[in-house]
This record gives sequence, structure tokens and C-alpha cells, in this order.
Amino acid sequence: MNQRPIGVFDSGLGGLTAVRQLRRLMPSENIIYFGDTARVPYGNRGRETLLKYARQDLAFLRSFDLKAVVVACGTVSTNCIDALQAESDVPITGVVEPAVQRAAELSRARRVGLVATRASVGSGAYERAFRRIDPSLEVYSLACPLFVPLVEEGRCRPGDVVIETVAEEYLAPLRERGIDTLVLGCTHYPLLADVIRNIMGPGVTLVDAGAESARACQELLTQRGALANRPEGAASYYTSDRAENFQRLAALFLGGDDVGQVQQIDIAGYGP
Ligand code: DGL
Repeated sequence: MNQRPIGVFDSGLGGLTAVRQLRRLMPSENIIYFGDTARVPYGNRGRETLLKYARQDLAFLRSFDLKAVVVACGTVSTNCIDALQAESDVPITGVVEPAVQRAAELSRARRVGLVATRASVGSGAYERAFRRIDPSLEVYSLACPLFVPLVEEGRCRPGDVVIETVAEEYLAPLRERGIDTLVLGCTHYPLLADVIRNIMGPGVTLVDAGAESARACQELLTQRGALANRPEGAASYYTSDRAENFQRLAALFLGGDDVGQVQQIDIAGYGP
């Protein structure tokens, strides 16, 4: 048993899709969440910048006495996870391996799609993980750089003509590929699940990378005998920009749960 909290971070609100899963799977755990809303989106940035931001995000989270960290950001997971893991004495899980594992299990057609940020697709990390896990899979990757800013604006529901137009334009070529499984490789994208499902059709199963990372964290803590034991855990939320903005949209990402108080911090004061 281990009562210490789990730390979770993302560039913004997207990682809350992983928090939602963590809370569902492990309701006894305490969670500390940091969303770097002052610097979102990460998805078009270079590796050096991403590593600098990720180290600061992690340094802030490590100001708490954590037992594990979930990098609930596809872009950081694809570009920096090895460096972060090498530098950390607490276990760190990302989104890539768990999502790829799940997609490989689900695909009958052996043709899978991946949608993620430009930096994630450009890193090739998802493709490498697919090759490692099952080299026979055909993988079609697609960067969707406008998705994150639209989701952060709350433009994510079916019927919203802006997101529907953008999504149709991005996804139409992927629909022609005969895939039966699509990895939502950015933690913001599960908010677009209905829009994406309407475009891809019922024959395509969506894999939520954030949710899979939560499952991987649960497995890790179970193996280590490090699950918490209390009637109900709590979550605390921190952001690098205005708390009101975070609060306004967070319930959407958490499936209706109110986040309560959100604290703004100065992220520039953390890290090497
Ligand atoms: N939600 C993050 C990801 O999974 C970051 C997206 C962004 O900031 O561009 O990639």
C-alpha cells in the first residue's frame, strides 16, 4: 500500500481525459494535475523546447511527494519520455506503448490509423512502437494540428460546423485506407470522439491514449503493491495560466465532474 499521490501533466486540459480514467479505475488515489495552459499547444514545437517544458512540468509535480507520474501528453510521451524516465527516481508512464498495445489487440483488419499532433507524428514514436509490438500491422499516421486549439476553445461537439469541417478535411483520406482501429494519440482528441466516429463510421474502433495510460499506471501500481487504501481519493488541479479558463472547460474533459478550486502557478520558477 502507498498513500502518496499520482502526478499527471499535459500541455493543457487534454490530460484530464486520463485523470477521468484514473479516477474511474482507482477511486482511492489522490491525484495532482498540472496543465501548462500558458504554453499550450505543445504539438508544433521542437524536441528541445518540449524537453525544457516537460522538465519544468515534472519539477513542479515533484514538489509533491509522488509515487508515480503519468505523462498524459502524447507530444511529450513521443518526444521526451526516455529522457524523463532516465532522470526520474519515480516511475513514469506515457501514452504511446499502452495505446499501441491496445490497438494491436483490437485490430482484426491489421490496418490501424493514428491521429496525433505534428510533433508526435513527426517523431515516429508511435510507428516504432507498432513495429516492435507487431511488425505485420499496417499503420497510417496523420497529424491534425488544428484539433488541440479547437478543443481548448470547447469547439468539440457534433453540430459545431468549425470542428466538423476541419475533422472531415483531415480524416477523409484516412477513411479510404480500410482501417478498423484508430488511435487517438493526443489526449485532447477523446473530446472529439463523437465527431471522429461520425466521420470514420461504425466499423472503426477508437483507442483513447489517455485512458490506456491510466490503465498502464494501474497495472504498474498493482504490480508494485503501491495502490492507495482510503474510501475516496481527491484531485488537486494546477495551471500556468488563468484558473477561471481552466475551470470553465475542465468539467467537459472530466465528463461532468467539477474540478473545484484551481490554483495558478508560475511554471518558469521550476526545473533546471
Ligand atoms: N494533449 C497533448 C498531446 O497529447 C498536447 C497537445 C498540444 O499541446 O498540442 O499531444
